[in-house]
Amino acid sequence: MTDETAQEFYGRWARLYDLIARRTPGIPPLRRRAAAACRLERGDTVVEMGCGTGANLPYLREQVGPDGTVVGVDFTGPVLERARELTAEYDNVHVVRGDATSPPVGEDVDAVLATFVVGMLEDPASAVDDWCDLVGSGGHVVLANAARSDAWYAPPVNAVFRAIVVLSTPPTTKLRYENEPHLRLDRKIDTAHARLRERSAAIADETHVFGVVRLTGGRIA
Ligand SMILES: C[S@@+](CC[C@H](N)C(=O)[O-])C[C@H]1O[C@@H](n2cnc3c(N)ncnc32)[C@H](O)[C@@H]1O
Repeated sequence: MTDETAQEFYGRWARLYDLIARRTPGIPPLRRRAAAACRLERGDTVVEMGCGTGANLPYLREQVGPDGTVVGVDFTGPVLERARELTAEYDNVHVVRGDATSPPVGEDVDAVLATFVVGMLEDPASAVDDWCDLVGSGGHVVLANAARSDAWYAPPVNAVFRAIVVLSTPPTTKLRYENEPHLRLDRKIDTAHARLRERSAAIADETHVFGVVRLTGGRIA
């Protein structure tokens, strides 16, 4: 998918996406858990890559407190407007427009979070490598992504997941028209999570939301 296509798509659906992103049952606890998995301390700096409408940002702010710094990066203007509205009350939460694969952030980042993003990247493993380099040894990188479930209720859950992938993929992308778009997405997600495991000295691997969302948090070696 081209960057323009994705930006146009998420721009058009910003408000609807925001509702789904914040109100879907099971998702708010997942966001709280993802923020906790960043293992932040008061005063730390955390960057969220592909922050979208900012649903994770209040949870990250909770972790770093008033003296820490939270930066949300996304390349889609309208979703960032929504993220700015959501975090207007905090002066230490910054929302910036930029590419998650070459983020406009400096040194001294303690953790990187990316939820439902790596499946959209051309080369997810190299993005994960860059994020690991950004936080450095002892820093944390946390990924959460929808992936197919192996649980007993998997067939209906996977059918729903497949429908979500098709509906939430920009219509002009090749991904949407592939017979099995979720398989391509699964491969990208697998690759990203595997790279994070390779780069980590300690790992938390969990599933959430009826087994459909996989969360991997790593302390970088
Ligand atoms: C499915 S949404 C997830 C948003 C948010 N992380 C959440 O959990 O609700 C994916 C987001 O990633 C952003 N995105 C995708 N590729 C990106 C890139 N290369 N740089 C910056 N943002 C990107 C899109 O604009 C979109 O807002």
